[in-house]
Amino acid sequence: MVEETRIMATLAQEETDFTELPDMPADVFTAPLKRPEHVGEDWLEPKQTEYDSDDDAIWDDLFKRQMDILPGRAATAFLEGTEKLDLGKGGVPDFGKMSEELGAMTGWSVVPVPMLIPDHLFFWHLANRRFPAGNFIRTRETFDYIQEPDVFHDVFGHVPMLTDPVFADYMQEYGRAGWRAMRHNRLKALGALYWYTVEFGLIKEAAGIRAYGAGILSGPTEAVYAVEAESPNRIMLNVDRVMRTDYVISDLQPTYFVIESFEDLFRQTVERDFDKLYRDLGPGFTYANTAVIDIDYVVNRGTLEYTLRGGRGSGAKPA
Ligand SMILES: [Fe+2]
Repeated sequence: MVEETRIMATLAQEETDFTELPDMPADVFTAPLKRPEHVGEDWLEPKQTEYDSDDDAIWDDLFKRQMDILPGRAATAFLEGTEKLDLGKGGVPDFGKMSEELGAMTGWSVVPVPMLIPDHLFFWHLANRRFPAGNFIRTRETFDYIQEPDVFHDVFGHVPMLTDPVFADYMQEYGRAGWRAMRHNRLKALGALYWYTVEFGLIKEAAGIRAYGAGILSGPTEAVYAVEAESPNRIMLNVDRVMRTDYVISDLQPTYFVIESFEDLFRQTVERDFDKLYRDLGPGFTYANTAVIDIDYVVNRGTLEYTLRGGRGSGAKPA
């Protein structure tokens, strides 16, 4: 018992300084990404790409398409965030100016990165209130879907939520939780939490269910499907349960998790003893992404029709 207390204290001390680049334990698996030569150890690009008028037109068209769909489907905090940052003023936003405005609101900045970055660096940036955003924009050919997050997904999808003070704190806490996940080799479980909140989260508002996840808000199909379709399950968020749940990367989700409020999301994350949770979790996932289990507080039980018909590529209709 004495031994246990001593170890916890040491772990806690290590977690108080987030200014240094984290050291990755040798046994922790992360995707084998190769660092491009022109970026530093922190994987930041020296400066933001200079976009031409075609790029700016792609941004404007994507922006318009989403804003035609999102009222009544996106969370109020998100819609207010797009206005506060004036993301529709025309063209790809300038990161410097946006960071100044965002910094004045919640202390966050947006920094350019060439591609997906390694997990430990991603956590480090978040823990220091820096959001790494893709330094490129999709083409007309990949207008409807790209796998790599570009500047539209990252800035339009994620940054408006960072104007909400409570959500902004949640994102920083998430980065800090990443530290502990690395130490226990549980990045996969923490990845599921990110997936079901930051990327695909839903929130209960007085007017009904709304989306706050960037993966939903940056595409036209999932924005309608996640909020209105009969196919997916919608279950109240339970952090412990979500971190044991598998997820799909390249198709619409069979299950979404709903929060009561951003305060509730923050509390569930901060009050969680991640060190204990990581020690209890097995290395894989316990629940399939279609599962509804005994402890779930179900908002809507989905028909799962879209998923059972075969999902993307099968001709199944999302709505
Ligand atoms: Fe994202």
